Amino acid sequence: MLVDGFGRTIDYMRISVTERCNFRCAYCMPNTPMNLGDENEDVPLESVLNFIKVAIIQGVKKIRITGGEPLLRSKIVPFIAQICDFAPQIDIALTTNAFLLAPLAKPLKDAGLKRINISLDSLQKDRILCISKRDGLEKILNGIEVAHQVGLKIKLNMVPLKGINTDEILSILEYGMKRGIMVRFIEYMENSHAKEGIMGLKLAEILANIQTKYPTRLFEKEVIGPATLFKIPQQEIKANLGVELNRDYIFGIIAPHNDDFCKTCNRVRLSSEGKLIPCLYHNNAIDIKEAMLRGDTEEILSRLKLCIENKPEKNDWDTNAISQRAFYQTGG
Ligand code: 5AD
Ligand code: SF4
Repeated sequence: MLVDGFGRTIDYMRISVTERCNFRCAYCMPNTPMNLGDENEDVPLESVLNFIKVAIIQGVKKIRITGGEPLLRSKIVPFIAQICDFAPQIDIALTTNAFLLAPLAKPLKDAGLKRINISLDSLQKDRILCISKRDGLEKILNGIEVAHQVGLKIKLNMVPLKGINTDEILSILEYGMKRGIMVRFIEYMENSHAKEGIMGLKLAEILANIQTKYPTRLFEKEVIGPATLFKIPQQEIKANLGVELNRDYIFGIIAPHNDDFCKTCNRVRLSSEGKLIPCLYHNNAIDIKEAMLRGDTEEILSRLKLCIENKPEKNDWDTNAISQRAFYQTGG
C-alpha cells in the first residue's frame, strides 16, 4: 500500500497519455497553435503500461486515463484492454472531450472500460466553438448518447465561466437529469496557460444558480472523489421539469478553492511527459520517463515512493494564486 507523509492512502493514479488535443478550451490552452503534433512524441503506451503495472501491484485500485485528449492515441483501445487483462478488478475510467468518442465507445467498453467523464460546457453550437475553438457540439452529443447506449457509466463536467456559459448551468443540469447522468460543476482553477481574464464561479454561486429553480440538499450518504455531492428530490424534478425519475438526482460541485479539499486526496498523476506529479497545483515533479522506457520496475517503484513521500499537504488556490502548471500535460 502507498501512504503519503500525511497518512493519506494513495490508491488512485491519473495517467495523461498525451498533451495533444483537438480542442483549445479557454480554461486550458487557448493560445497553443491548433497543431496536433506527432504521436511519436508521446511516451509509448507499452512504457506507460510498465508504470501502471507497478502501481497496481502497490495497491492502486483506480486508474483514470486523461490527456490532452486520450482518444487521439491510436492504440488506446488495446491499451485499455491490456490494463484490464492485467487487473480485471481495476476501476478504470477515461476523461474525454467526446469529439472522437462515438465510434470508439463500444470498443472501449468491450476492452473493459467502465466509466467515462465528458466535458460539456455548453449545449449551444456557437458557444462550444467559442469555448473550445472547435465546432464540436454535434459530435460531443452523439458521443454522449452512444456511450450511454453501450452502457458506459458517464459523468459530465462543466466549468462555469462568468459572462460565457453561466446561463447554461440549469440546462446542462437538466440535460443530465433527463438521462440519469451525473453532472459535476468544476470551479475554474486559475492557471497561467488559460485565457487572460476568465473567471469561474465558486461553489456557493453555482449552488445559488441551481437553487433559483430546484431546492438542493447536501447528499451526505457518500463522498466519492473530489466532488461535494448534492441531491434534488425526484418530486421537485417532476414539479419543475415534468420528468418522472425513479430516484432523486445527484449532482456534484468540485471546489478546489475550499479549505478541506485536499484532506482526502488519494491520487498522484503521471504527466504526458513521463513525470510523476504529487499535486496538481505545486510545481514539483519526478521524472520516470527513462525508467518506464527501460521497463525498470525497481526504479519506477522507488521514484513512485519518492513522489508520494513528497506529496504536499494542500494546494494553494485558496490564497488566490495562479498555478504555472498546464492542465493539458497533467490531465486536470
Ligand atoms: N479549471 C477547471 N477545470 C479544468 N479542466 C481543465 N482545465 C481546467 C481548469 N483550468 C477540466 C475540465 C475539462 C477536464 C478535462 O478538465 O472539466 O472538462
Ligand atoms: Fe483539450 Fe481538455 Fe484542454 Fe479542452 S480542457 S483543450 S478538451 S485537454
